[in-house]
Amino acid sequence: MEKLDLRLAAAADFVKEGTVAADVGTDHGYLICYLLNEGICTRGFATDINIKPLESARKLIREMDLENEIETVLTDGLKGLPEDEIDEVLICGMGGETIIGILEDAKWVKSEKVHLVLQPMSRADMLRRWLCENGWSIDAEKAVEVEKHLYTVISADYIGGSETPDDLYCLTGELLGQNDEFALKYVRWQANIQRGIASGLLRSEKEKEHALVHIQLADMLDEQADETENDL
Ligand SMILES: C[S@@+](CC[C@H](N)C(=O)[O-])C[C@H]1O[C@@H](n2cnc3c(N)ncnc32)[C@H](O)[C@@H]1O
Repeated sequence: MEKLDLRLAAAADFVKEGTVAADVGTDHGYLICYLLNEGICTRGFATDINIKPLESARKLIREMDLENEIETVLTDGLKGLPEDEIDEVLICGMGGETIIGILEDAKWVKSEKVHLVLQPMSRADMLRRWLCENGWSIDAEKAVEVEKHLYTVISADYIGGSETPDDLYCLTGELLGQNDEFALKYVRWQANIQRGIASGLLRSEKEKEHALVHIQLADMLDEQADETENDL
């Protein structure tokens, strides 16, 4: 098997040893095959909503002789999976809104027994907010850069209750203050996005106050990145 790319390798690093994992939207099956091949997970489920990607996962599973360890399931999200068995839920390479939809449809994941590894391709801010408001604690994040795109990989545990995160946390989560090249790039990228939003809003006089909020956020992000860099 080829090495995982940085994005999937970061996701694999967050998976706890000796667990049973569900790789939702498995596509080619690289992540779940890696986890079983390396002995990180004891059993796995590979799901996809589309048959073609699932067939390509089945091919890899056969080639790697992992048919007894990984079950493939054609399904939407986590529907129909054996909830009592699964303690790692991996959802990578999907939009933040889709990830939220999948988790909302599977109430059983709201359990201290279930650990989440999520890698949103978009709307990471919305996902972080939703996680905090719905009882999850983000315990770690790792920023990665693949083909000039920056992504975050989120590790989260269910602790119950509901927290209201501030905007800064929603934009950068556990990456803020991280002494790491890609985390710093991610924070500065988010600052630029905030400046872009502000300059759009500044075209309209009545949005001036609203624009200032985004400028303030951008300044705070850049300041935090400067401070972290100075500590390097
Ligand atoms: C971009 S690929 C990501 C593949 C792999 N997880 C990765 O990160 O490299 C997204 C995959 O998710 C599948 N998918 C999209 N929505 C889904 C859903 N609701 N349930 C299961 N699979 C889904 C798609 O068919 C596709 O194979």
